[in-house]
Amino acid sequence: MTILVTGGAGFIGSNFIYFLLGRYPQDKIVCVDKLTYAGNLSTLKDALKRQNFVFYKADICDRGEIYKIFQKENPEAVINFAAESHVDRSIADPEVFLRTNILGTQVLMDACRLYGRVRFHQVSTDEVYGDLPLDRPDLLFTEETPIRTSSPYSASKAAADLLALAYYRTYGLPVTVSRCSNNYGPYHFPEKLIPLMIANAVADMPLPVYGTGENVRDWLYVEDHCKAIDLIVRKGKLGEVYNVGGHNERRNIDIVKLICRELDKPESLIKFVADRKGHDLRYAIDPSKISRELGWVPETSFETGIRKTVDWYMTHREWWEEIVNGEYRNYYEKMYGNR
Ligand code: NAD
Ligand code: DAU
Repeated sequence: MTILVTGGAGFIGSNFIYFLLGRYPQDKIVCVDKLTYAGNLSTLKDALKRQNFVFYKADICDRGEIYKIFQKENPEAVINFAAESHVDRSIADPEVFLRTNILGTQVLMDACRLYGRVRFHQVSTDEVYGDLPLDRPDLLFTEETPIRTSSPYSASKAAADLLALAYYRTYGLPVTVSRCSNNYGPYHFPEKLIPLMIANAVADMPLPVYGTGENVRDWLYVEDHCKAIDLIVRKGKLGEVYNVGGHNERRNIDIVKLICRELDKPESLIKFVADRKGHDLRYAIDPSKISRELGWVPETSFETGIRKTVDWYMTHREWWEEIVNGEYRNYYEKMYGNR
């Protein structure tokens, strides 16, 4: 089988590529990535040594380039991870989010239609459901929860989901959609909460917690997400949405304190800063559909996953230090300088 993975030089896409290369050595993996600030070819250095892996630097919005790659590689399945993924950046500058996340998805699906009804999987997010109140732990996002987005990022992801489901109904394109909660693990770009706090704590820099730190996220180890996507692509029902999450809700402040403990750093590094605009209060996924229908269960506990993650960042300092010492410095200054 030839599988085309977009956004494979980013966090989850790269973990997915290594998962596929390990589990299906007979498959060919084609990666398409524009290598934006979030894409890093060094992440794929071990994959690039493999005969059954090929990399194309291309923009998913570039119809001509994408069609050429389809013609040459003839993929049987496309898994779309490529996206602008950071909520804060979408608040500062929404346009590229609409372009990549919506129009890029459309180009990929058009290519799937044109080159033989190729199976298409859209990697989406729980953020399309908006947020839940902090004082109603009984409420969870199901696949029936109405779409109610808060940020330009989540609105663009919701638009892409709807477009994918429209291509299923209108053109019969074999589509599935997954909506996962917050991932953590190796190769997570340092702009996001967990790697940012690790990188800052290592450097004894302030740990910037938005608002009161009481917002809740539902954390899943990235490998468990990869396994869920693989199951959906191979066994999921076409035209369906699957929620993915591991019932692991944590307050941001508790995550940051845990990282301080893991790294033996004082909590006095924590600095409460101005809140994110439109900041979603709580995410919590009900994964019962994927468990019931496809037998998926998360395998890595948070205690194990966070330890593995901290260890990975400590043993791969060159990977993230190169990032935080580059263009990222300007981003950090702009985002946190006067906060
Ligand atoms: P990321 O920002 O780490 O990686 C995105 C990758 O896409 C990068 O390699 C980047 O170069 C590439 N890319 C961006 N624009 C492109 C374009 N126009 N053409 C080709 N490539 C392009 O993101 P991530 O955290 O790995 O997220 C991957 C996907 O999973 C996204 O669609 C995101 O919405 C979704 N998701 C993420 C999480 C999470 O917690 N990180 C949770 C649920 C869903
Ligand atoms: O839920 C899935 C989503 O999770 C994905 O769709 C997104 O692509 C991914 O980026 C992530 O979105 P979040 O906004 O939840 O992740 P982020 O790491 O940016 O923030 C997590 C929480 O931590 C959020 O409540 C904001 C807070 N935060 C974040 C940063 C970067 C801070 O308090 N301080 C920070 O410096």
